[in-house]
Amino acid sequence: MSNILIRPPWSLPERDVTAEGVFVRRREFLRALGIAGAGLAVPGMNRVVAAGTTPAGVAASTSNAPQRKYPALRNPKFNPGWALTDEEVAAHYNNFYEFSLVKHQVHRMVGKFVINPWKIEIAGLVEKPFVLDAHELIQEMPLEERVYRFRCVEAWSMVVPWTGFPLSKLIEKAKPRSEAKFVRFESFNKPDEAPGMKGSNYPFPYFEGLRMDEAMHPLTLVATGIYGKPMPKQHGAPVRLIVPWKYGYKSIKSVVKLEFVADQPKTFWEVMGPNEYPFESNVNPAVPHPRWLQSTERVIDTGDRIRTLPFNGYGDQVAKLYGKS
Ligand code: MTE
Repeated sequence: MSNILIRPPWSLPERDVTAEGVFVRRREFLRALGIAGAGLAVPGMNRVVAAGTTPAGVAASTSNAPQRKYPALRNPKFNPGWALTDEEVAAHYNNFYEFSLVKHQVHRMVGKFVINPWKIEIAGLVEKPFVLDAHELIQEMPLEERVYRFRCVEAWSMVVPWTGFPLSKLIEKAKPRSEAKFVRFESFNKPDEAPGMKGSNYPFPYFEGLRMDEAMHPLTLVATGIYGKPMPKQHGAPVRLIVPWKYGYKSIKSVVKLEFVADQPKTFWEVMGPNEYPFESNVNPAVPHPRWLQSTERVIDTGDRIRTLPFNGYGDQVAKLYGKS
């Protein structure tokens, strides 16, 4: 795949950026007037996690996962008091190439995506490979909410409350053998349900990887929900990964397989552009990407430009994994 030149959707036409910019400005304008327009949420409503509230436009694509476990209690260790990104803006600004290359189209393309039942295969260097049902897993695991920063390599960011459990808990269930040094994650392959996969030149299904110590790190989350509700399809239902100190593409959505391996696995974007999307991909303001300066980031709902922090602000917790303190 590496010789095939495909422009990553991140370098997508300015018209998208403009359209999204206009959208955000319109919201700000209406917010300033105190008006909730058609298809818009009540201003301020999404700043707090309120059980059972669903902004207009989010409901249609919300997953059909069991609701009983939501909202989960917020873990006070991951509750820094930052302003949350507007829920509807986050739900309409998605990178999910299996559905569309256009961020604000993704939520409209997920209607046919079947997320229940959903099998997850545990394979590779484990005591005994097995398959589990994602919804049973969600029912079984204690869920908590964590507010995390999320930073995309395209130099935008959001602050969202994820619901989920540490990946380490699933790895404990998987019982990897000592030779396992990496985890390879794979997403679904359902072109009949995901229009972006049909006839695509991208090397689907989407795949990612982490070192074992990164996968076991307490910050690495299996996310099952967002904003106090089960994961909407466009955010990666029914379960996805969140690795908050790495660029967003490492946080693979809609996972169907975890494979424990001895050698560093290839990743989707690494195959597409090995020099642009290396395996490690920790957020690093000092290393510019050929297309996006990484020293600052645009907050998707307010449009504010803020300084990017090393490891996306999680350096105290993770720098030691990379021999830095
Ligand atoms: N996972 C899959 N399966 N397919 C994708 O296209 N995009 C990645 C990541 N996980 C992607 C994926 C990228 S580039 C980003 S920035 C985040 O998902 C976006 O997550 P969000 O839409 O919930 O904000």
